[in-house]
Amino acid sequence: MFIAQIITLYPDMFPGPLGQSLAGRALREERWRCDAIQLRDFATDRHRSVDDTPAGGGAGMVLRADVLARAVDHAAAMAPGLPVLALTPRGAPLTQDRVRQLAAGPGVTLLCGRFEGFDERLFEGRAVEPVSIGDYVLSGGEMGALVLLDACVRLLPGVMGAASSGDDESFEQGLLEYPHYTRPFEWEGRTIPEVLRSGDHARIAAWRKSMAETDTRLRRPDLWERHEGARVQPPSGAR
Ligand code: ADE
Repeated sequence: MFIAQIITLYPDMFPGPLGQSLAGRALREERWRCDAIQLRDFATDRHRSVDDTPAGGGAGMVLRADVLARAVDHAAAMAPGLPVLALTPRGAPLTQDRVRQLAAGPGVTLLCGRFEGFDERLFEGRAVEPVSIGDYVLSGGEMGALVLLDACVRLLPGVMGAASSGDDESFEQGLLEYPHYTRPFEWEGRTIPEVLRSGDHARIAAWRKSMAETDTRLRRPDLWERHEGARVQPPSGAR
């Protein structure tokens, strides 16, 4: 079973939306486990403080390294060997590759930040990987943790069935997926591409490939550049 441990000040946010739909069914089927851990339980002072003012001054509060480390150590004792990820906009962008690796492993321990972030020494004192779910700022890491878990859980064996096996999915080939259509084939005067009704599987595959490439080039020039860079190797000896 895939183990998700979430260290947070808001344990009631879990499993939250992941108790519904596909992930919810998988949870009930014990394909994964969702253990929320209250960070405040690892405070040691009378006020149960988990944060303090930023050294050097400035706005907000910073989560304390000592409190975080005690929580991480507790989580590791409960489920040894899980990779520990901290959700922060300062992290490396989460990718489908990393999600696939995580989903293939025993589980994850996720640290959710609030306030201004984590005392940086946490990343020196413990093996914690900072990850971001995108270039925007959330009010805390909890939503990021839910996103990361959703992406992992759908890849667990038996969760998605046939729908997840597609090599066609967005990012599987380093490209966005091609566009989809369904009935009614005419809607508000709009039809669907003729090729999709042709029954010619080779033509359909070629059309889909071409659309995936065009849409990736237009919408995600960053992905397209990487894709082309990986595909087009310079001829040997060229310079
Ligand atoms: N916490 C706040 N913003 C975040 C982001 N973009 N990704 C992950 N965690 C966050």
